[in-house]
Amino acid sequence: MTDRIPDPALLADRFPGDFLFGVATAAFQIEGAAKADGRKPSIWDAFSNMPGRVFGRHNGDVACDHYHRLEQDLDLIASLGVQAYRFSIAWPRVYPDGTGPINEKGLDFYDRLVDGLQARGIKAFATLYHWDLPLMLAGDGGWTARSTAYAFQRYARTTIARLGDRLDAVATFNEPWCSVWLSHLYGIHAPGERNMEAALHALHTTNLAHGLAVSAIREERPKLPVGIVINPMHVYAGSDTPADQAAAERAFDFHNGVFFGPIFKGAYPDTVLSALGERMPPIEDGDLALISQPLDWWGVNYYTPMRVADDPTEGAEFPATKPAPFVNQETTDIGWEIFPQALGDLIRTVNARYTLPDCYITENGACYNMGVEDGAVDDQPRLDYIADHLSVTADLIAEGYPMRGYFAWSLMDNFEWAEGYRMRFGIVHVDYDTQARTIKKSGLWYQSLARSFPKGNHGGSVGAEDRSS
Ligand code: FCB
Repeated sequence: MTDRIPDPALLADRFPGDFLFGVATAAFQIEGAAKADGRKPSIWDAFSNMPGRVFGRHNGDVACDHYHRLEQDLDLIASLGVQAYRFSIAWPRVYPDGTGPINEKGLDFYDRLVDGLQARGIKAFATLYHWDLPLMLAGDGGWTARSTAYAFQRYARTTIARLGDRLDAVATFNEPWCSVWLSHLYGIHAPGERNMEAALHALHTTNLAHGLAVSAIREERPKLPVGIVINPMHVYAGSDTPADQAAAERAFDFHNGVFFGPIFKGAYPDTVLSALGERMPPIEDGDLALISQPLDWWGVNYYTPMRVADDPTEGAEFPATKPAPFVNQETTDIGWEIFPQALGDLIRTVNARYTLPDCYITENGACYNMGVEDGAVDDQPRLDYIADHLSVTADLIAEGYPMRGYFAWSLMDNFEWAEGYRMRFGIVHVDYDTQARTIKKSGLWYQSLARSFPKGNHGGSVGAEDRSS
């Protein structure tokens, strides 16, 4: 950690002139207006309204009321001086039943959003799925049902046909690790399942849905840069014993390989297939070809590393690991170890193992819960966290990795999933009683950095392509 305010000008010098600085959000976490204009519940509405699932039984009914405060929030984004905004589109606004009739009023909201970004000269990075599966699809099995992949393809096609002309990039999924393992195996996120078969089905359906959506997006808008946002684990072995080293390899395959393998190599990892393959759904002819279509970009979300040790318990389920202790005892307020160098180790590792396209850091940021005092929020530790991770990013660029942009998570405090509103990641503070927004110290610092871009005249990022077709 730095002990003084890192000079944004010195940091800016280490980035190419066309590097994109942005801020990120997700629909369910900020929009509220859960019943407005035809929206119906998602699995997160059901989950958060069920006691015991989300801290304080908080839900997304109001959130940051962004749906009703769109113009002022767009002005806020513009005032931060960023060049790009990453947001997600709520499937339950577009197809409230998941399938069936389209809800034009839901799409109208995103029309206003992308028009508003264009009017302000801010690039639009849309994510199609940030965890708000229409609840009606749970009746068929949700992500465990192959039919959900086809429903997703239809939603992707409709949405891109309507909005794609004003998008700069689109991601199919946000963090499939969370919507697969965290949601179907570990039970922490909606729908709260704890079942390996369910999780393995969700895994393949999600990968298939990604591939089907890529096809539909390309058919609708061939030049729109398409990618996926992954939260790969940088796995460190808890020790250098062969058992822990092997555990780390298994963890890599289980947490990362099941997404990177199909998407960037056209195959699931052998270790996973031999341990769990019999419990996977049938992989039909053509599935892996669809899933592994070349992408224009990928997004990495990084917060903290994963440390594992071997779990020697007889019959322990693959990957048979248990958590190993943190190396840095310093954590953010959500309890995640601060370890910026893992971002660098992660990017080097995945690039060594796979052939990857241009990369955006689509999320990075820190949870600190300090509030407003005398009209200001002194969140120096968040500022340091962001500066330290940007410094690692600049090192990666110097080493030649194609890092094209960085999106701070998050634009503003919001509904932090199972943690509800108690955990704050914003560079802008939200007072949930008044909906007042206050730019934090980290936000003002980020603003001074972002405002110096674009500079110079460098080429090559996906956002710079001609998107006229
Ligand atoms: C990521 C999610 C994002 C936010 C951050 C803190 O896993 O993509 O929505 O909750 O963590």
